[in-house]
Amino acid sequence: MVSKSPPLCMCPAGWKLLAMLALVLVVMVWYSISREDRYIELFYFPIPEKKEPCLQGEAESKASKLFGNYSRDQPIFLRLEDYFWVKTPSAYELPYGTKGSEDLLLRVLAITSSSIPKNIQSLRCRRCVVVGNGHRLRNSSLGDAINKYDVVIRLNNAPVAGYEGDVGSKTTMRLFYPESAHFDPKVENNPDTLLVLVAFKAMDFHWIETILSDKKRVRKGFWKQPPLIWDVNPKQIRILNPFFMEIAADKLLSLPMQQPRKIKQKPTTGLLAITLALHLCDLVHIAGFGYPDAYNKKQTIHYYEQITLKSMAGSGHNVSQEALAIKRMLEMGAVKNLTSF
Ligand SMILES: *[C@@H]1O[C@H](CO)[C@@H](O)[C@H](O)[C@H]1NC(C)=O
Ligand SMILES: *[C@@H]1O[C@H](CO)[C@@H](O)[C@H](O)[C@H]1NC(C)=O
Ligand SMILES: *[C@@H]1O[C@H](CO)[C@@H](O)[C@H](O)[C@H]1NC(C)=O
Ligand SMILES: *[C@@H]1O[C@H](CO)[C@@H](O)[C@H](O)[C@H]1NC(C)=O
Repeated sequence: MVSKSPPLCMCPAGWKLLAMLALVLVVMVWYSISREDRYIELFYFPIPEKKEPCLQGEAESKASKLFGNYSRDQPIFLRLEDYFWVKTPSAYELPYGTKGSEDLLLRVLAITSSSIPKNIQSLRCRRCVVVGNGHRLRNSSLGDAINKYDVVIRLNNAPVAGYEGDVGSKTTMRLFYPESAHFDPKVENNPDTLLVLVAFKAMDFHWIETILSDKKRVRKGFWKQPPLIWDVNPKQIRILNPFFMEIAADKLLSLPMQQPRKIKQKPTTGLLAITLALHLCDLVHIAGFGYPDAYNKKQTIHYYEQITLKSMAGSGHNVSQEALAIKRMLEMGAVKNLTSF
């Protein structure tokens, strides 16, 4: 049955067409505003910001002098599909590999994710900055410059709130381990920040599993009490491929891979983050790296807390050896420093 509706208006055909066009335009505008990225594409012609020139593949090709180029197939984050059938047996135990931790890891990978966000994946050239925690960021006024990078990588529990002018507020990724996790991850990160777990021991996988699956917490086995309640979205969690720890230790610090029982020396999260950035990014800048000279016993080492080099004793990090490695990367142009190094 067809019911005959009265004409909407008694106007000439031309007006009807205009009304239709107006309606289409209204719908388009509404749709665009509801999708902010489209709004920008359709109605804004942004003045291109003056950004550092970025050459595709530059960081990796420069870094290949240090790392060789055997790394191209390595995923940045561990993937469930690689462990479900155990296609990728690891030569090393944590922190350099996953040997012996596969079952725990499988349970963690089943509830987390391994994807690189589309907005990073789709960039033709990725400009990255690794923000170290060093005191040289204090009064640096680098905040705005840091926020302009495509990818901002931060470390451990370094705060952002209250330090925005010097360190920026954007955090694309934050590398951490249970003992270095900030107790209030929502305050110091953005809603879409990837929280990248750097596992040193099997307990670290166990910790994240008990947090995310709300299982009984384990308090023993950590050198410092990690959070027992940690308010994060499991989809934000990534597990860093231990491959990066392996090549940071092997290629940058020449550490022995097979260490007796207990690992004596290991790379800092900062050196690990630079290693990761050299594989993920096309341009890598660093800010807030470097420690005071050893004789400078009063100088604080971080931009946010009053601790000195003394606190690094027994940490298993050799900061002078790392400084040599970073100097080498600066000299070969693989990375560039935004604060003095
Ligand atoms: C990198 O890979 C290419 C081909 O895959 C090879 O010819 C070249 O020798 C490699 N370079 C290094 C430094 O391993
Ligand atoms: C930072 O600036 C403030 C205020 O100008 C000054 O009091 C403080 O000493 C500066 N800190 C450093 C580490 O330069
Ligand atoms: C740290 O590294 C430096 C330079 O490679 C070396 O001379 C020093 O002996 C190392 N210190 C320790 C405690 O291993
Ligand atoms: C990088 O470090 C060198 C050596 O400390 C320094 O001379 C230079 O000014 C630094 N670059 C920036 C942008 O701070």
